[in-house]
Amino acid sequence: MKKLLVTGGAGFIGANFVHYWMEKYQADKIVVLDALTYAGNIANLDNVKYEGNFTFVHGDICDQAFVEKILVEHKIDTLVHFAAESHVDRSITGPDAFIETNIMGTYSLLKAAKKVWLDGDTVVEEHRFHHVSTDEVYGTLSPTDPAFTEDTAYAPNSPYSASKAASDHLVRAYHHTYGLNVTTSNCSNNYGPFHFPEKLIPLVITNILHDKALPIYGDGQQIRDWLYVEDHAYGIDLVLQNGRIGENYNIGGNNEWANIDIVKRISKLVEQEFVKNTGLATRFPLAKAAIEQNTDSLITYVKDRPGHDRRYAIDATKTNNELGYMPKESFDTGIAKTVQWYLNNEAWWQSVMDGSYQNWIAEQYS
Ligand code: NAD
Ligand code: DAU
Repeated sequence: MKKLLVTGGAGFIGANFVHYWMEKYQADKIVVLDALTYAGNIANLDNVKYEGNFTFVHGDICDQAFVEKILVEHKIDTLVHFAAESHVDRSITGPDAFIETNIMGTYSLLKAAKKVWLDGDTVVEEHRFHHVSTDEVYGTLSPTDPAFTEDTAYAPNSPYSASKAASDHLVRAYHHTYGLNVTTSNCSNNYGPFHFPEKLIPLVITNILHDKALPIYGDGQQIRDWLYVEDHAYGIDLVLQNGRIGENYNIGGNNEWANIDIVKRISKLVEQEFVKNTGLATRFPLAKAAIEQNTDSLITYVKDRPGHDRRYAIDATKTNNELGYMPKESFDTGIAKTVQWYLNNEAWWQSVMDGSYQNWIAEQYS
């Protein structure tokens, strides 16, 4: 039985991971530590099953003493670290928070883990610090380059990816220098439920429903490798079970799409949903699909993201061979489920978009 501390467990991937884990390992105990920034949403954990084994703690990963207290009080043996500032565009306009949370926050967690697990009166032999990282640390690819492997040299291009790269290096150093049991996974772009609507896929779905422009940065030919979020949780599960200490594992979808094609695909899917379900036209009367017009007329080319990486692609051969990893969801089924989830969960995305959720958080935690 594991006792997990999941940082950032109220965010998009962290929350999906908590749902996945509590469903699969019902005897395990999970403590979520989350600062509930604009991207964290306690409602993402509403239906977590087996409540007796689940605790939510509101707090900051940069508070080392607080993290140590949690590790000791809850006898944590496994720390899965998702907490981060995660949006590239925000890192361009305001890098400070990224340096603070992604670098200093990870450093604070490493110091706390070392102190409690290695330097305390009782050494916790069986411990694991799993760091959740990104493919963006490897930089950018041309259309013909081979995909990123774990041996690709780090070449981060945005303040976000630079801060993640720095945190990856600190995690590695704490293993090599102090013997902390660490693993790191580097994953490609995730999509699925609870994805904050500032990121491409949920932004496009919600903008279509409100008849708002679908902004395409630059020429729209940038390529991302999309993975259904539950398959990321599954990959981390395999790394935690059988990954070798001190190693990095790439997790990806083998599913490269140009941005413009993803947007067109989602537009078609939403139109099909409006044909199947006539009630949608009443709920979303502004949508082009409600008046039988083409949704992709909303596509609007805008100024490119500064330093925009052209292509990401993950070579997950090592994770496939060593851990038997293979994504379970196809893109067809994953994107259809995702569109369906946003159609069924309007209250969730309206509240994160109109700020009412943030007001509620401020009241709860002031
Ligand atoms: P997210 O922005 O949706 O969630 C981040 C969570 O961290 C939020 O709940 C937020 O409240 C919390 N948080 C932020 N600062 C904190 C702090 N100082 N203390 C405690 N909690 C804090 O992010 P996400 O998309 O779920 O990404 C999770 C992790 O996965 C990140 O480390 C990210 O770099 C990595 N990752 C993301 C993707 C992706 O496609 N989204 C892909 C690969 C890797
Ligand atoms: O590759 C993994 C990374 O994927 C994660 O580490 C990041 O946390 C995550 O946010 C994501 O980064 P991206 O920058 O790739 O995701 P985003 O959804 O912001 O953008 C996807 C692509 O779409 C990217 O090429 C930029 C483009 N884009 C994005 C937005 C929000 C647009 O063209 N228009 C938009 O409005």
